[in-house]
Parts: sequence; C-alpha cells; structure tokens
Amino acid sequence: MNIAVFSSHEGSDLQAIMDACRSGAVNARVCCVISNNRDSHALERARKCAVPAYHFSARVIEDPTELETAILNTLIENRTDIIFLAGYLKKLGSCILSHFQDRVFNIHPSLLPKYGGKGMYGIHVHTAVVQAGEQETGITVHRVNAEYDDGQIIAQQRVPVLPDDTPECLAARVLTAEHKFLVDTLGVIIDEMKRHGRMV
Ligand code: GRF
Repeated sequence: MNIAVFSSHEGSDLQAIMDACRSGAVNARVCCVISNNRDSHALERARKCAVPAYHFSARVIEDPTELETAILNTLIENRTDIIFLAGYLKKLGSCILSHFQDRVFNIHPSLLPKYGGKGMYGIHVHTAVVQAGEQETGITVHRVNAEYDDGQIIAQQRVPVLPDDTPECLAARVLTAEHKFLVDTLGVIIDEMKRHGRMV
C-alpha cells in the first residue's frame, strides 16, 4: 500500500507516518511527499528518508488545471494508493478527489465538526478552543471532500484542556497525542483497505 503524504510546513505528522512505515507498525510505505511550500521541513524530512519529495505551487504553475494535472500525474507515477493530508493548507482539486475517491484522508487538531473549516488551522484552532473555555478538545481523522474539514469522520480522540492552558501549550499536547493516534488510525485504515479492497 503506497501512501502519498501532503504537508505544508513542519511535517512532524509526516515523520510519524514515515517512522511507522519503516518500523513496520504500519504495513505500507510513503511513496511520495508533496508540499506547496518549497522551504517546508516536510520536504526536508522526506529527502532525509529518501522519499521522493515534490514542490507544487500556484506560484510556479499558475493555471489551476495544469497544477492539478501535474500533481495527479506525480501521484500516479509514484503508484499512490491512498493520500494522507497531514498539515496541508491547500484544497485538493476535483480531478484528484475523484481519481482517489474515498482514499483521501486528513488529520485535524480538534473534535470536528467543532473548530473546523476555512481559516481553522494551526494555532487558530487552539486559540478558539481556549477562548471558548472548552474543557476538552481532540483530534479527528476524516475523509476529504471538496470542503475544508467536512468529509466523513473515521476516528476521533479526546484530549483534555487544562485550566491554565495557553493555545501554545494546548497545541503541543494535541500534537504529541496526534502522532500516536495518527499511526494507530492509519494502521486500521490500511488493514481494512487490504482486507476489503477499500475502507468500509
Ligand atoms: C497537525 O496539527 C495536523 O492535525 C494539522 O496540521 C498540523 C500538522 O503538523 N492538520 P505538522 O506539520 O505535521 O507538524
């Protein structure tokens, strides 16, 4: 099973996936990494692990159809079975979504549908959670559709919000929990897809 991972910045989730594939905790391999940010740590991490790494951005390929076609061709050339968005801040185009129907997943650092949607990423999510006085937040892995953070929820994990939490310390707690949750959930997705030919 070949996983293409998309990541825009730090890539710590990507690292967790690559480590899990390498150790055998997840029965798959990362076949390529795609980023819209040429300076992302994600691309650097991929290269360090000898995983093909690609930068695709509207700044380089201005025409949206051409950009999407270039990404789709790269996914196909690398024999992608499933796509995992791990901190990717761009939407995928409809051609990619229909080619990989039901095989595109995203991880989001909140209990969706709460604190999702346009503009809800990174520290913005955790700031909103702290400002709302929530006592718990969490992590969601879901299928990707044409809207931000909107597809079918596959799995969620709760994470407590402590009374003195700042958005930064909450973000760190969620991200630490995310790495294990991501690997566990990906393992279930891969096993189920191998068993049924798809995720049911
Ligand atoms: C994670 O919190 C993930 O849930 C969200 O983006 C963040 C990515 O972190 N979609 P990193 O770049 O993998 O460190």
